Amino acid sequence: MPTMKAIRIHEYGGPEILRYEDAPRPQSAPGDVLVRVHAAAVNPVDWKIRAGYVRDWLKYKLPMIPGWDFSGVVEEAGPDAGAWKKGDEVYARPDLARDGAYAEYIAVRASEIAAKPKSIDHVQAAAIPLAALTAWQALFDAAGLSAAQKVLIHAAAGGVGHFAVQLAKWKRAFVAGTASARNHDFLKSLGADQLIDYTSVRFEDVAREFDVVLDTMAGETRDRSWSVLKKGGILVTILGQPSEEDAKAHGVRAAGVFVQPSQTELDQIAALVDSGTLKPYIQAVFPLAEAAKAHELSQTNHVLGKIVLKVI
Ligand SMILES: NC(=O)c1ccc[n+]([C@@H]2O[C@H](COP(=O)([O-])OP(=O)(O)OC[C@H]3O[C@@H](n4cnc5c(N)ncnc54)[C@H](OP(=O)(O)O)[C@@H]3O)[C@@H](O)[C@H]2O)c1
Repeated sequence: MPTMKAIRIHEYGGPEILRYEDAPRPQSAPGDVLVRVHAAAVNPVDWKIRAGYVRDWLKYKLPMIPGWDFSGVVEEAGPDAGAWKKGDEVYARPDLARDGAYAEYIAVRASEIAAKPKSIDHVQAAAIPLAALTAWQALFDAAGLSAAQKVLIHAAAGGVGHFAVQLAKWKRAFVAGTASARNHDFLKSLGADQLIDYTSVRFEDVAREFDVVLDTMAGETRDRSWSVLKKGGILVTILGQPSEEDAKAHGVRAAGVFVQPSQTELDQIAALVDSGTLKPYIQAVFPLAEAAKAHELSQTNHVLGKIVLKVI
């Protein structure tokens, strides 16, 4: 059986359990495409899964390969894989229930991949799908954000946040964001209108009458966010489901978003990248073999933009 280099999890635990080793090269089933991975992004969900936090929900058969964000080149398109062919440059946020992209190859559903933006390299492209799709689905699909509306984005300098700021500005919304002061210049360069240093200011003291809050933090940040919405506004969280009771008590709406693969949305995102409207910011790039270091960095909860693993 052909093998490949991959990072695998044999048991749940800390970053040290990520093993760089030989693993069977995946085979593409009907409807699948086999992709040679060039780069894979690291997202907080990767270390949450590695630590076993979601083992009751996602029942993986171990060993498994983490990483659900990649850019690469089609190696083989199986039967029923549509128009994809060997050599196509693609990017995707593939199915979380299957083996991921911390590997030389990934077998992925043909319907989940899209043509990679042409103007950027694979490292930059890998940083985009999961976080940009999350921002898109929260701001546009769930909240219906439109021009002249006001949105407050929590953790605006993070992976999801920095895409959300750019997408909301593209829609010509007023954008406020929470971030520590050292990240304010970066967020201003993305077009943010109001920046709140959450380490020294209570955002609810300076932010009010928002149409939309994008909650990327949950906990007390979410609890304190209801009061900054105008009547009829909406809080969209990407961490679980918000309380309908709290929403009702404040005269607002609430929604929870769990990112879904979407070829159509990835195509629109690629077009925005190629027109210069949307840019990924990457704080650090590690070789695949150093995935453990990348997880340690992600777990600090203070990453600026994204972390990427370079596979080739
Ligand atoms: N539902 C879904 O489909 C989905 C999708 C993607 C992500 N998520 C979840 O959403 C969360 C955010 O994801 P991410 O990829 O954006 O994470 P991330 O990139 O790791 O976020 C890091 C950012 O959080 C900021 N931050 C930390 N504490 C903060 C606070 N109290 N207030 C405001 N900002 C704060 C940091 O800013 P400073 O350095 O300035 O402190 C840093 O820039 C994670 O828990 C992730 O698992 C869910």
